[in-house]
Amino acid sequence: MGILDKHKKIETHATLLLVLSFLVVTIGGIVQIVPLFYLENTIEKVEGMRPYSPLELAGREIYVREGCYVCHSQMIRPMRDEVERYGHYSLAAESMYDHPFQWGSKRTGPDLARVGGRYSDDWHVQHLVDPQSVVPESIMPKYGFLLNRMLDGQYVDDLMRTHRRVGVPYTDEMIVNARADFLAQADADSDFDALVERYPGAQVRNFDGRPGVSEMDALIAYMQMLGTLVDFSTFTPDPSR
Ligand code: HEC
Repeated sequence: MGILDKHKKIETHATLLLVLSFLVVTIGGIVQIVPLFYLENTIEKVEGMRPYSPLELAGREIYVREGCYVCHSQMIRPMRDEVERYGHYSLAAESMYDHPFQWGSKRTGPDLARVGGRYSDDWHVQHLVDPQSVVPESIMPKYGFLLNRMLDGQYVDDLMRTHRRVGVPYTDEMIVNARADFLAQADADSDFDALVERYPGAQVRNFDGRPGVSEMDALIAYMQMLGTLVDFSTFTPDPSR
């Protein structure tokens, strides 16, 4: 009984109640928030994840610039309807190199977290140029101008340095070779062995089927790699996490 009598003191003393409540909330907050400062500990390591290649990263910039995230999410939730439609639910590690993340909360169009490999490059070009020509009821805007905007990869190393600042583990070697890798990935005739060694699983080809590297090439290179890095036929979640 003694301890409950003491509690009465707290309940009848507004300032004391306030101070103690604040203390409890502070401790609770610290316990929840501080571990997140050490993100490496909270994200399960998953085989296959690597930073974006220079061309994919440039494509991702275009994705963000054009506001594709306004209509598309990139996070498959662990619920049956989602998993049956889109594939394995998204893992934290799959967006660990995304700055800013593209999870999104609005789905005017479908989730794109695993759109890589679902359609051909030609389909993507056709769909981005004129979405209604492939999906008549689509309300997606046209992005045909991306075909005519050429990229030379001049600033892609700066872009990678920026991402390195916020924690993406780009090595000096990756940054030195950024422009060469950028150009090589869009050209199947190039010498791309070193690129694929640096970025395992990188897909090398002329994505838009036209000469030169356009914003369309970069965007499709990005679309086609989304969700393809982790091999879910061998992936098993670590239950101790
Ligand atoms: C105004 C909303 C809107 C915007 C902005 C938008 N989309 Fe879409 N998107 C849709 C809708 C609706 C669909 C479903 C119909 C269709 O396939 O066109 C779709 C479908 C898609 C699909 C096919 C997905 C699948 O699984 O079938 C891809 C890929 C795609 N969008 C990429 C993009 C990209 C890349 C951008 C930015 C350049 C973009 N979208 C911007 C609304 C949008």
